[in-house]
Amino acid sequence: MIKILIVDDEILICEVLKDFFETKGFEIFTLHKGEDVLKIVEKEKPHLVFLDMNLPDKSGMELLPEIKKIDSTTKVIMITACSEEEKVIEAKNKGASDYIIKPFSLAYIQENIMYKVYEQLFEDLRSKHNKLTNIYEQTLFILAKVLEEKDRYTKGHSERVANYSVDIAKELKLPENYIRIIYQAGLLHDIGKIGIKNIILNKRDVLSNNEFDEIKKHTIIGFEILNILNNFKELSVIIRHHHERIDGKGYPDNKKGEEIPLSSRILAIADSYDAMTSNRPYRKGMAQVEAIKRLIMSKGTQLDTMLVNIFVNVLIKNKTVTSEDIKQLLYNDLVIQSLYYH
Ligand SMILES: [Fe+2]
Repeated sequence: MIKILIVDDEILICEVLKDFFETKGFEIFTLHKGEDVLKIVEKEKPHLVFLDMNLPDKSGMELLPEIKKIDSTTKVIMITACSEEEKVIEAKNKGASDYIIKPFSLAYIQENIMYKVYEQLFEDLRSKHNKLTNIYEQTLFILAKVLEEKDRYTKGHSERVANYSVDIAKELKLPENYIRIIYQAGLLHDIGKIGIKNIILNKRDVLSNNEFDEIKKHTIIGFEILNILNNFKELSVIIRHHHERIDGKGYPDNKKGEEIPLSSRILAIADSYDAMTSNRPYRKGMAQVEAIKRLIMSKGTQLDTMLVNIFVNVLIKNKTVTSEDIKQLLYNDLVIQSLYYH
């Protein structure tokens, strides 16, 4: 519940504001002297304080920086008896968000004060939301970097997968917030590899069946790491399914076709393409045209047909390949040609 503290030596003002805000569903605290203000601010952490400039024991101007010291995000609206411009400027310099002038009518409360309250609370919410979003995104970057330290052969892979996925999502004209989540999923798609033994993860030889089964667990581990937090739930599902196949032969849940989330189908293409074209210590990356050929050959079995077509268009648009290269590729291989148009 939103908490408001009203501090004014005029009992009537406190009562009028209290009654008004309580009917709106706010929790209200009132004080008529300055002495307990800091105690209440510390204990109740109000979102907003109405603070009289002139209190019998302390001035509101003295209390204002003390309140801000306890919690800099607490919004303070000064109550003043007249529009003393200098005082108002001083109060704003000390961190006051706004001011109201006494005496005021109920109409003034309804029209002006209510507006000021909502404006301040909205501002508070917005700055908290922005801070949280920043922390959240930084955490994602750090997690992706931690993984790269462990799985050194995939340095830069997550970021490239994220960027390719965003290119596909933009081509599909998906909404901005969806594109943002796809980017984050790209960065974290292999985060579950944190739970896989280094000896398996960094093995240069062909993996045994048991070892491959271990590697496969990274989809579920990634899901479980991220699913704990509400903010990561959507991401966790995308990451869980990034190794599913359109024909249902993927893992971990053997999902088929459109049962696989769209973002996971996008990630699968970006992931395959980058894995094929990147250099590894034990092999050179494949030529881009060759990798595209393999993507085309995987349409309808491993990868989503429509999304592969879109990705090929993206690569033509950003001049990775030319449409001539693609035509050549298709003419050179009749099998591929039939797959491309099916
Ligand atoms: Fe993966």
